[in-house]
Amino acid sequence: MIMRIWIIIKIHFFLTILLVVTPSSINSGELSDKFDGKNYIKSSVCGGCHTKIYEAWKRSLHANSARDPIFQTAILQSLSIAPLKEVSKCFSCHVPAVKKIEGIDFMSEDVLEGVTCDYCHSTSGIEKGRTPSLRSSPGIIKYGPYSGLESPVHKTQENPLFRQSEFCMGCHEYWNKNIGILTTYSEWKASKYSSEGIQCQNCHMPYVEGEIVDPSVKKSLKKINLHEPPGGRSIEQLKKAAEVKIISKRVQDGKWDVEVRVINSGAGHKLPTGLPSRYLLLEFSAETEGGKRIYTDNYKFMKLMGDAQGKPLYRDYEIMLKSERILSDNRLSPGEAQTVVFSFIAPEDGVHVNAKLLYVYEPYVITRELMNVEIGSVKEKLR
Ligand code: HEC
Ligand code: HEC
Ligand code: HEC
Ligand code: HEC
Ligand code: HEC
Repeated sequence: MIMRIWIIIKIHFFLTILLVVTPSSINSGELSDKFDGKNYIKSSVCGGCHTKIYEAWKRSLHANSARDPIFQTAILQSLSIAPLKEVSKCFSCHVPAVKKIEGIDFMSEDVLEGVTCDYCHSTSGIEKGRTPSLRSSPGIIKYGPYSGLESPVHKTQENPLFRQSEFCMGCHEYWNKNIGILTTYSEWKASKYSSEGIQCQNCHMPYVEGEIVDPSVKKSLKKINLHEPPGGRSIEQLKKAAEVKIISKRVQDGKWDVEVRVINSGAGHKLPTGLPSRYLLLEFSAETEGGKRIYTDNYKFMKLMGDAQGKPLYRDYEIMLKSERILSDNRLSPGEAQTVVFSFIAPEDGVHVNAKLLYVYEPYVITRELMNVEIGSVKEKLR
């Protein structure tokens, strides 16, 4: 049963790629009908004019937050321990444009669109609270960072929230009662980046080359922001986050002590942030001159969640549904340096040491299994 749902979703995903609208002919008159304010508009319609932004968004995890096989697997796993009503909470951030959850159609295009253009750009404000949410409802006004822009199909309005971290807080902060599960916003808020006015957008949505609208629609003078915010899937972004240094090495009484320092030098929140199933692993090894490994050890930087009985939780769906306490949290705060000492018995000769910092995430994904069982065979010689 579970496999069947998955395969249907997957096939549907391929179909939608083929059906994506291309911006070849834009008829503003025809489009105006869609902008009636009753429903959210599909992103491919916005993409007809906002071509460059659409291309970037399409590749982002925001556009894939419902199609993402890791998320879909987590939903199916969640349904094995919680009723649909509780699991439907997940959609408020992953598929926020879906208002009606009763009788949700997992295969509708609106569901598969994830975090859509129109959901974000219909935001007039924010509902504050432990788990905040954006005040978004479909309408003719598209809110954005600029003032006084004109469009043939919709109205525009400047909303300063679009340049502030509080906008991202609408989904990147999640608490279960008094326990913070996703706390990227509050980690940022407590950091020097917040007091210096460096917002999420500065690091994740910088200005890039490209036009706001296709030049055939209008010659625009404004700059565009990157709509594919890089995170833990971007090697470039991860490399900006941390530095690893050997800061001291001493040999005494036949034993080496090597101090390794890890610094959160570039992330505007804890490292790692977001889902607590991700961690940093500091791997240390020592080899003799001849290349023989004589010592290995490692150290983890992570937030470990526990259920009501204090049992540690490692899987995404259990973390999201069952966390009742934080068992430990030694992640690196913005700017923070932590030192780890590795000690090992000194060999006669010289020794080479190596410290490596890895970002680790081991999610569950439902995959297609090939079943290939021989149930009979015949062999015969002809002629
Ligand atoms: C027919 C073309 C067209 C379509 C379709 C279209 N837009 Fe626009 N949009 C424009 C033009 C033109 C501007 C103004 C650009 C300028 O003056 O630089 C604009 C501006 C904007 C702005 C900037 C607002 C601001 O003040 O910062 C946002 C946000 C926006 N559109 C969102 C959307 C969304 C979301 C959709 C889909 C629901 C959409 N647009 C569909 C043509 C279009
Ligand atoms: C996660 C929410 C989110 C989604 C999804 C999103 N945007 Fe934006 N968009 C923003 C934010 C935030 C800004 C302003 C960033 C800034 O100024 O620092 C912005 C800026 C814009 C602007 C003004 C020009 C610019 O780039 O600054 C336009 C136009 C726009 N978006 C259109 C779109 C379209 C079209 C889509 C879908 C293809 C889309 N957006 C998807 C959040 C979003
Ligand atoms: C409507 C909800 C929503 C809003 C608003 C939102 N996000 Fe997200 N964001 C998500 C979801 C859901 C995911 C995870 C998608 C997935 O992988 O399934 C995500 C993923 C990301 C990732 C990628 C993480 C990775 O693992 O690579 C980054 C970076 C990110 N968001 C940055 C931002 C920034 C910056 C803003 C504000 C400008 C913002 N988001 C606003 C819902 C949102
Ligand atoms: C000073 C720059 C900076 C600021 C400010 C910043 N980030 Fe990040 N962010 C990074 C870097 C670097 C990474 C990559 C390291 C990592 O994954 O933690 C990252 C990673 C992420 C990820 C991916 C986490 C993962 O493991 O996949 C998300 C989501 C994210 N940031 C959201 C936000 C939000 C939301 C804000 C604002 C509240 C924000 N960031 C502010 C630099 C920044
Ligand atoms: C408050 C908003 C919010 C809610 C509610 C929410 N999520 Fe998420 N989810 C996010 C954000 C934001 C990310 C990206 C986190 C990051 O990378 O820092 C994410 C990431 C994930 C990921 C990892 C996806 C990937 O590809 O990396 C899984 C799995 C996931 N969520 C499952 C769930 C499940 C299951 C539920 C419901 C029990 C749920 N989420 C409810 C906001 C939310």
